[in-house]
Amino acid sequence: MSRILGIESSCDETAVSVVDNGNTIVSNIIASQVDIHAPHGGIVPELASRQHVINIGPTVLKALSDANTKIEDLDAISVTNGPGLAGSLMIGVNFAKALASSTDTPLIGINHLEGHIYAAWLERNDPAKDMGFPLVCLIASGGHTDLLLMEGHGKYTLLGKTRDDAAGEAFDKAARVLGLGFPGGPAIQRVAPTRRSKEQFSQAHFKSGNPLDFSFSGLKTAILNRAKILGLYPPNSTPPSESLISELAGGFQEAIVTSLVSRVLQAAQTYNANGIILGGGVAANSLLREQTKSTIDLPVIVPPPILCTDNGAMIAACAHQKLEHDPSLSSDISLDIHPTWRLGI
Ligand code: KG4
Ligand code: ZN
Repeated sequence: MSRILGIESSCDETAVSVVDNGNTIVSNIIASQVDIHAPHGGIVPELASRQHVINIGPTVLKALSDANTKIEDLDAISVTNGPGLAGSLMIGVNFAKALASSTDTPLIGINHLEGHIYAAWLERNDPAKDMGFPLVCLIASGGHTDLLLMEGHGKYTLLGKTRDDAAGEAFDKAARVLGLGFPGGPAIQRVAPTRRSKEQFSQAHFKSGNPLDFSFSGLKTAILNRAKILGLYPPNSTPPSESLISELAGGFQEAIVTSLVSRVLQAAQTYNANGIILGGGVAANSLLREQTKSTIDLPVIVPPPILCTDNGAMIAACAHQKLEHDPSLSSDISLDIHPTWRLGI
């Protein structure tokens, strides 16, 4: 039995969780900063770190008390130490270091992207046993769109990545153009029609380079131009037509989802995958979840939406695997942040 504290502060959520055996969530607290950043239409790094400072102590205490756990009961304290916003990462890492060193508890630094993959191990799943490696993993978030081949625990090859914007970033920008607020992904999903949209956007086609790469900047320009032609952007005194906004949101969502699913399918076929893992905030998207399952004839593990967006449980789940592999694993006080850390290269 292992009981691990997971601390996540790489972006705009201060999130802390207690997880048993890498798969059973005992407590999961997420202090969201959405209300603070929403008026700015995106995340303001300085505001994010200031809010982490305010939230980190109470969030750790709440996660421990909800789990009825004392620090001495923990087998390890895990923390995201990259990639992410430097100021935000520093708050979580320094807090974890202080907590671990003052209580003599092992400290484990975790890659945020790897954490998103290990969200698939939560809620008593074990993709390694249930499906077996190799697995194709798509991590689609506000900062990354990475397609990875996972051939074992901790063994990744980067198969494709975005050449420009991340999928979540594209959702956020499109929502701003359509006046739907922040964060954009859930807002676009909320207004999009459940049938095929009347507004269609074409896919990016690459003349050269890696066909498993993604590109979303053309789509972003396409929706901006369409909104300008339709008189929806820049915002003006004429109230926008709700049905038009809905069709544009739907078409945009379909284009992003098609781009993601087609590459996941291609990667799964090329590398003879036994299953698919979806992770990151964009994996909370219901169209993406449905289309992946209906298009690809393989088991698909996609965590519940609350575990796709940033959380501390995925960090603890990943740390559990690392400790299984090396029970003496522990960083010392020199654990550093890696704001641009990548996975699989
Ligand atoms: O993984 P995450 O919580 O934070 C990062 O690591 O970036 O991802 C946040 C991103 C945001 O861009 C947000 O718009 C997007 O995930 N997102 C969604 C949905 N929920 C969150 N995108 C599409 N559909 C959703 N339902
Ligand atoms: Zn994330």
